[in-house]
Amino acid sequence: TDSTSEKLVELAKRRGYFFQSAGAYGGVGGFYTFGPQGAALKGNVEEAWRDRFAVAEGNMEIDAPTIMPEPVFEASGHLDGFDDMLVECPECGESHRADHVVEDETEYEDAESLPIPEVEEVIAEYELVCPNCGAGLAGQAVEAFNLMFATNIGPGDSQPGYLRPETAQGIFVEFPRLKEYARNQLPFGVTQIGRAYRNEISPRRSIIRTREFTQAELEYFIDPEADDPDLSAVEDVEVTLYPANEQNDEDGSEIETTIGDAVEEGIITDRWVAYFLGVAKPWYEAVGVDMDRFRYRQHLSGERAHYASDCWDAESEIDGNWIEMAGFAHRGNYDLSKHGDHSGDRFTIFKQYDEPKTVERATVDPDMSYLGPEFGGDAQTVVQKLEELAARDRDAFDGETVEIDLDGETHDVPVETTGFAVEEQTEAGEHITPHVVEPSFGVDRLVYTVLHHAYREDEVDGEERTYLELEPEVAPTFVGVFPLQSDDDLETEATGIAAALREAGLSVTYDDSGNIGRRYRRQDEVGTPFCVTVDYESLEDEAVTVRERDTTAQKRLPIEDLPETLSAIRAG
Ligand code: GAP
Repeated sequence: TDSTSEKLVELAKRRGYFFQSAGAYGGVGGFYTFGPQGAALKGNVEEAWRDRFAVAEGNMEIDAPTIMPEPVFEASGHLDGFDDMLVECPECGESHRADHVVEDETEYEDAESLPIPEVEEVIAEYELVCPNCGAGLAGQAVEAFNLMFATNIGPGDSQPGYLRPETAQGIFVEFPRLKEYARNQLPFGVTQIGRAYRNEISPRRSIIRTREFTQAELEYFIDPEADDPDLSAVEDVEVTLYPANEQNDEDGSEIETTIGDAVEEGIITDRWVAYFLGVAKPWYEAVGVDMDRFRYRQHLSGERAHYASDCWDAESEIDGNWIEMAGFAHRGNYDLSKHGDHSGDRFTIFKQYDEPKTVERATVDPDMSYLGPEFGGDAQTVVQKLEELAARDRDAFDGETVEIDLDGETHDVPVETTGFAVEEQTEAGEHITPHVVEPSFGVDRLVYTVLHHAYREDEVDGEERTYLELEPEVAPTFVGVFPLQSDDDLETEATGIAAALREAGLSVTYDDSGNIGRRYRRQDEVGTPFCVTVDYESLEDEAVTVRERDTTAQKRLPIEDLPETLSAIRAG
């Protein structure tokens, strides 16, 4: 028997959820088109995300370009560090992710964090082979492969650009403007839902690993010294956690706890990360992720991205494998300080003191005439070194000489020539670089999980049936309306009902082809929660049969009540 994934992929194609793009030209790995049902489901999931993470949290949503110039990715570290390990088969020429080959065939669970020479050694030691043709991979060079898609902006190649590998950078680069909209007050959050692009070496498992996908990201900017989240709204949320130390332990198992207890016991160390994990869990449940197949897994230290200080993933179980649906990372001030350094713009917030403070500042005013000849004309560097030292370590000026390093040599500068002094200044505040906490959701993987977890097979009247038990709030088609037979009066009544339901804001499909049993089956496979059938009696009693998808139970309801009754169910 086929796995649920195999059956789901077939169903997705048949019923318009998703399918490989450009099939007429043979298709190309890693690109998928969402069909009419898939686009509507994805849209509903995005809307639910927007409601929860932008609107309900009072955050701002932006929409930035998907192509950005090279300096952005030089600063963000993606140009240098956003690599996967590639190994090419000497026989068939196919490229594979070396860490995946290792993880699939050995006990290494976190091969991504191993240095390249070590991965080469493991490949040789285990005599690993090409997953495509079976040829040995031992001795093949493993290389770092940058995942960004490159392009040229404008004619010629003078201005290289890249398709963004994460939506996040579109938020970070606009920080100097966004902070103005937030009236220079921390904390504040900015969200973005949009496409991201990664030239994955081996896209796999349909829409789970693609080369173009949708992310929904929140960048939450905080003052690490002052902003502490109120956990009261999430402390009772029950979660299944898989912390890093459990994973390292041979008998490691998951922990059932609450957000509040996990913070108290130091399992989740960052309170902001804990807050967002607590917000996300009930949200995942509401859009239809099966909570028995959901957990939060902490990244192992070698697994974290180049910018992250702590990270937890939301994972869902698919055919016995755990897949990452979202990452909740503490990015520190990595991104803003890099963009500040590289652009020269102000990626800081002016933090006003409650009242002006008198602060002591150490200053130096060296005697240049003395320093000049002594240090061979390098007086400017000496001044700079002394200033840095004065700001950092005032005690260094306590003795007779001050020690500074210059061109690899240590020099003793007589204290009396440094002009060292401590002055009092009154200051209204200081410029600080905010820290960032980032819940980053992959929409495609979530859509896949929602479909997979909704997939059901049962028997109705002795016949096998497949249906999707989608939550009414996200189901792409909410109600099917059918005239029982092809008959002008029935069709007129049914189209009138369909129009009234559309008017009430529900997504309706009208279907008058095939026998009624077949029409029900079709909607079951789409996951349509309700079907309304107009029969001859309806013309007399102004009532219709409403069939419920999961139980197949049928009920008679007055036509005039339909829009209100069904809208209430849809609203949840
Ligand atoms: N800004 C942080 C960031 O991009 P990430 O863990 O690399 O973090 C976030 O990506 C989410 O994007 C993942 O949890 C996953 O759901 C989704 N994602 C990443 N690569 C993907 C791919 N090749 N195909 C589909 N979804 C992907």
